[in-house]
Amino acid sequence: MTQNLADTSRPAAAVIAANAGASRGWWRDAVIYQVYPRSFADGNGDGMGDLPGIRSRLPYLRDLGVDAVWLSPFYASPQADAGYDVADYRAVDPMFGTLLDADGLIRDAHALGLRIIVDLVPNHSSYQHEWFQRALREGPGSPLRERYHFRPGKGTEGELPPNDWESIFGGPAWTRTENPDGTPGDWYLHLFAPEQPDFNWDSPAVADEFRSILRFWLDMGVDGFRIDVAHGMVKAPGLPDLGSHDQLKLLGNDVMPFFDQDGVHEIYRSWRLILDEYPGERIGVAEAWTPTVQRTANYVRPDELHQAFNFQYLGTHWDADALREVVDVSLDAMRPVGAPATWVLSNHDVTRHATRFANPPGGTQIRTPGDRALGLRRARAATLLMLALPGSAYLYQGEELGLPDVTDLPDEVRQDPSFFRQAGQDGYRDGCRVPIPWSGTEAPYGFGPTPGGPSWLPQPATWAGLSVEVQTGDPTSTLELYRSALAVRREHPALGAGTEVTWLDAPEGVLAFRRDSADGSFVCTVNTTGEPVRTAAPGRVLLASAELTVVDGETVLPADCAIWWAA
Ligand code: GLC
Repeated sequence: MTQNLADTSRPAAAVIAANAGASRGWWRDAVIYQVYPRSFADGNGDGMGDLPGIRSRLPYLRDLGVDAVWLSPFYASPQADAGYDVADYRAVDPMFGTLLDADGLIRDAHALGLRIIVDLVPNHSSYQHEWFQRALREGPGSPLRERYHFRPGKGTEGELPPNDWESIFGGPAWTRTENPDGTPGDWYLHLFAPEQPDFNWDSPAVADEFRSILRFWLDMGVDGFRIDVAHGMVKAPGLPDLGSHDQLKLLGNDVMPFFDQDGVHEIYRSWRLILDEYPGERIGVAEAWTPTVQRTANYVRPDELHQAFNFQYLGTHWDADALREVVDVSLDAMRPVGAPATWVLSNHDVTRHATRFANPPGGTQIRTPGDRALGLRRARAATLLMLALPGSAYLYQGEELGLPDVTDLPDEVRQDPSFFRQAGQDGYRDGCRVPIPWSGTEAPYGFGPTPGGPSWLPQPATWAGLSVEVQTGDPTSTLELYRSALAVRREHPALGAGTEVTWLDAPEGVLAFRRDSADGSFVCTVNTTGEPVRTAAPGRVLLASAELTVVDGETVLPADCAIWWAA
């Protein structure tokens, strides 16, 4: 049985607005829960999650013990990339609700003591955005074309793309337009799908517009922004050829003329001034895929954003040496800029970690279910490791239920645009986006209001056994492990913010570290091996990711298990 020794009761909910002064640096150790609106809760029964659905489930998130909720995009969008193609940045898509629903959601969250972070997509808009549509309609010479990257093609007839860049979703990063008179026209740049034209951030109108969008949502009361493709907005002058035909392999590993250009930091400095005008510490979080954690640290210098996702950590396999190294490198990189390290295991773009860890090492896109029991054991241990580290942690909806990726979705239900473009990155992201199970024995398992009702992606029959209802109150369940871990993390004085861990001697394949505070110390031990390991107990067990046994007075660390100790 899992040892849940924590008191899981929470102090009465703080009303955020009234509490701004008492929450200095709240983001330095916040646990932030990602809601993928399509798949969290469907209030009106149309098979698609929505804002009223999320609103009705906020008490669940409060009771889970998270500090903030990050909502993936819910803005007006033709949904060519599940909402990361925004047609109107100030409107809620009718399939998710209304602006009034967003207002109610933000207010309810604050009343429950939860902060709300919204997604901002500044690298590209939807091709249906009014600016882009006008730019197309008005033809070459339209001033609106300055706001995107329109270029004449190469070749005698302009029939070749302006440079050799490839779309992250596969195929060329350029699409040719048709002139208003029907003749073939200029090309436009889209690092992602053709329905996602890239903004030209050299255009003052673009910069002005995004400052205004920031203010719009800050005035609505949001506590921060997760910035999509935060490393992409500035392109190298002249849009030079890359000269490589294997561009996808370079992504995140090398400097690219369209990613992680130094000029992007100017934008964040101007945004920070706006964020700081508002009370209550509103934050910016960078989704920046950079070659090194050190380059990531540039995004969180004191006058830029507050946090950046740690994708190096997400990409690390279940291996003690590799994990220790990425922890050290991450903490070392953040120390000089004074930003908290962040930790994340899953999101809406990668195979869920319960499935990644069920398979041999192989990146973040896994197509096979692997060994489910092994993956779940490791996933539970990985979560305790992550939540014990200094800084802030991100959870992705459903990981608290131990959900695996759905690796056998039939092709005809898939919606990920890169699946259809082939040869692109991440074509199987639908597997982590399947609506989550809440209750009952019949799909959609409480995701929607009616048993037997629709869900936009089908849920596996086995998910009846993984629902919130089934797991609640079962001390061995993954949900109760998360609840206990978040409660202990909140209460233990040595957990949360900070930058220091002290590594302790440990047998091969075992990680052990200590965190100290004036009011008590804490030790985390993680056995990444497939065999039990005997060890002297460093203190009193607070929580463990698997059933513990004691042999001859020594605690046995079960295979693939993490233990938290009060030391
Ligand atoms: C980010 C999002 C991803 C989206 C892409 C293009 O990486 O997380 O879901 O497809 O940006 O907006």
